[in-house]
Amino acid sequence: MFVLKASIKAGIFCSAVLVFVAIAVPVFAGNQVSISIDAKKPGSVINKNVYGQFAEHLGRGVYEGMWVGPDSTIPNTKGWRNDVVAALKKIHVPLVRWPGGCFADEYHWRDGIGVRENRPVKMNTNWGNVEERNAVGTHEFFDLIDLLGADAYVNGNLGSGTPQEMAEWLEYMTGDGKSTLAELRRKNGRDKPFKVAFFGIGNEAWGCGGNMKLEHYTSLFNQYASFLKAPKAYMPKIIASGGHDDDTSWTEYLTRNIHEQWNMRFDGVSFHYYTLPTGTWEKKGKALGFGEDQWISTLKNTLRMDSLIRNNVAKMEVNDPKSKIAFNVDEWGTWYDVEPGTNPGFLYQQNSLRDALVAALNFNIFHAHAARVRMTNIAQMVNVLQAMILTDKDKILLTPTYHAFEMYVPFQNATSLPLTISNNHEYSFGKTSIPAVSASAARALDGKVYLSLVNTNPNESVEIDIDVAGEKIEAAKGRVLTAKTMDAHNTFIRPQSVQPDNFNSSVKAGRLTLNVPAKAIVVVALE
Ligand code: AHR
Repeated sequence: MFVLKASIKAGIFCSAVLVFVAIAVPVFAGNQVSISIDAKKPGSVINKNVYGQFAEHLGRGVYEGMWVGPDSTIPNTKGWRNDVVAALKKIHVPLVRWPGGCFADEYHWRDGIGVRENRPVKMNTNWGNVEERNAVGTHEFFDLIDLLGADAYVNGNLGSGTPQEMAEWLEYMTGDGKSTLAELRRKNGRDKPFKVAFFGIGNEAWGCGGNMKLEHYTSLFNQYASFLKAPKAYMPKIIASGGHDDDTSWTEYLTRNIHEQWNMRFDGVSFHYYTLPTGTWEKKGKALGFGEDQWISTLKNTLRMDSLIRNNVAKMEVNDPKSKIAFNVDEWGTWYDVEPGTNPGFLYQQNSLRDALVAALNFNIFHAHAARVRMTNIAQMVNVLQAMILTDKDKILLTPTYHAFEMYVPFQNATSLPLTISNNHEYSFGKTSIPAVSASAARALDGKVYLSLVNTNPNESVEIDIDVAGEKIEAAKGRVLTAKTMDAHNTFIRPQSVQPDNFNSSVKAGRLTLNVPAKAIVVVALE
């Protein structure tokens, strides 16, 4: 959510270097949480694009954080940092949304093609009013996509552009004939069309994308979408810019009023929801040094994602019962007060164990809604908001959020499995309570059943009894992410303070019981 929009919106001690071994223990009736998974009833596929990312021209995100230019002393390929690309490849980034965000509605694609030195210099008015030299444009973005082996989600400019400009960008990227625009792309170094997997028509039209009324945006969507043409093999999925937070009206109206009979391509509606510790934009809360009150409020606010999706999907079930349109949470993550001493327009924040739990809770929620939620994008990739990676000149560190993404890789394109949690504990602080355990199960492409568990309680470990119907399970093998303190984080001096450890357990007396440490994420294969 755009920052200026003030009106809306038992202690088990665990050193990060210890190897965790969950000991199978006898069942003590009454206190154990139980999880049953039905391996015989496969549900929806968890689209790998649920693990998508967002890279906006904002602060030190794209520039510095990822793109340093081919002449940089920092090792790079075509300008993209080798260290950052290698780290992102390890988490199998499936999809990257670019160039914004709010930036998208001020971006004019022609500024970003041709000889780099000759490109116009603009001011990035949304984000710090710094120079935007347009060094990263369409071709550079697709270099990144190729390096990562990811798909591209290009967000078009509806707010300050024209239908012609948008249509011509798509033609430039995808034209396979001899049109002047396709030839211009070839002259600029790309023979074959670029594969644009998704194309977004504007961003946050109700805010930075033009402060529009819903009805107005819907008409514009229909108008702009009418002219988006591409060869069949290169036609992207078209995404409408939807609502945010509690407001379901955008999802409802868009899915009711963009009609199939107009032959309008409409594949997904977007939705944005950010986790703020305090829930207020004026004073969001700190990234580090917070108390348990903001640990629990942050996780509670994250868990709202479930009802927000549910409420929107309920509208879609009425308007689109055949589920042709996806519900895409194309911006989510934590948004804190910026790191003291940094440019407030750069949205730079540290990232702690709490962020990793926020990510894991969101993943478990997205899996539960896999039938409709077929793409999401965490905001953002590097140095901005809930980032995977932080950089300082030639140094990089992987954040706890990165490790959560890495642990969840087996869930990409896995088939979700029904799971029931019984006797879940409550974790409470002050007047606030949330469920202690969040979980998700799926059969991955390697044929194994994977289980993810989050213990939200920062003070007490939890014993969880696992039962899998339709599968003979003898052991759980995987990893755990936890740390000594709620705000444990990695620094450039200690980049490995928070990182996953091994976690293994085996069946004893016919039962599989996992002891999940306080404030932890566990992902295991049940074998
Ligand atoms: O992710 C930062 C900003 O948040 C995006 O530019 C905008 O879409 C949202 O308000």
